[in-house]
Amino acid sequence: MRPKTLRDLDPAELRGKRVLVRVDYNVPMDEDGTVRDANRIEASLPTLRYLLEHGARPVLVSHLGRPKGEVVPRYSLAPLAPVLERLLGAPVQFMAETDTDAAVEATRQLEEGDVLLLENTRFLPGETANDPELSRRLARLGDLFVNDAFGSTHREHSSVVGVADLLSPAVAGFLVESELMAFAELRNPRERPFVVAFGGAKISDKIPLIEAFLDRADAVLIGGAMANTFIRASGLGTGASLVEEDALDVAAGFLARPEHRLSLPTDVVVADAGEPDAALSSIVAVDSIPADRAAFDIGPRTRETFAHAIGESRTFFWNGPMGLFEVPGFDSGTVRMARAAAEATAEGAFTVVGGGDSASAIRQAGLAGAVSHVSTGGGAALEYLAKGSLPGLDALDRIGI
Ligand code: 3PG
Repeated sequence: MRPKTLRDLDPAELRGKRVLVRVDYNVPMDEDGTVRDANRIEASLPTLRYLLEHGARPVLVSHLGRPKGEVVPRYSLAPLAPVLERLLGAPVQFMAETDTDAAVEATRQLEEGDVLLLENTRFLPGETANDPELSRRLARLGDLFVNDAFGSTHREHSSVVGVADLLSPAVAGFLVESELMAFAELRNPRERPFVVAFGGAKISDKIPLIEAFLDRADAVLIGGAMANTFIRASGLGTGASLVEEDALDVAAGFLARPEHRLSLPTDVVVADAGEPDAALSSIVAVDSIPADRAAFDIGPRTRETFAHAIGESRTFFWNGPMGLFEVPGFDSGTVRMARAAAEATAEGAFTVVGGGDSASAIRQAGLAGAVSHVSTGGGAALEYLAKGSLPGLDALDRIGI
């Protein structure tokens, strides 16, 4: 069984219908409301274009930030409407209401060819509690439901799960469909070697995932600040590096497993502080990290070892930067990984970059188009890979395969 998608609906069924589309427009914005990265908005366009082409009337809801059930002006979706309008090339009306009678009336008045964007669902008390009464009010906004908010599909919230239970049909949009296709390949790789690389700061966020991939992957490469915790757990000193003390036992447990699939850095870039002054930094072997210095990137030898493993792979998944890539001088490991992923793709490997910082890193390196798939999901991608299901998917109509 898989969730039904828009493709499973007869397009004729869409004509004239109000389609409530849950999108994930939780995008980075500047103080003045400028959208810093419109990638998630662009990713919603195939679904919106399809709906418009078939005469449906899309009504969009999303969250932005974590305003905790209160109206917080800096989290208004208003600044996104002109951005969406420009990218979509169709009129986008914004309404600063979400679940009110006036909002329902606006959905009824929506002209064919236009899109209606409603206000942040997290301004509503009840959204994050999946409150049945709020779900009922939100369900009045559409005749059918499309979940195209892959990045939010791990949230059991009213606009993700509650409305899907109430509206029928309730199907996945094209973005969710493409994410699921990419992740299906990672859950059951057709071609091996299957190599996985993890970076970022915290092991604790990724324990179930590392666990899952230690069984499934042929090699698991560990970089970023989380590598420090593994290095310390292996009995070496880590100087002033960021170490997750609470996760040392878990890291030691992973290292003690007999499969020997974990690869840790053999050298690192250390500095007094994570500041953009590369002159302060030096490269040291992992067993020689000075007591007063901290690791901020994987070293050149590790980069080449990791790049070689990625080059040998036929399926590759990467989540989390290899160092403090936002700071010039500590981005070389992450950029090398991005290049290795692009090179492996050119050689025919299936390559996925999963969410959050690693997605920004590959975009920053100008290589997002050079890998097979860049996920729009952060936590959702990790949870789906670990468990193979998400609450927002389970709430959609199912189809046998
Ligand atoms: C994300 O950015 O990962 C999603 O939009 C979910 O946001 P949340 O972690 O605030 O639920």
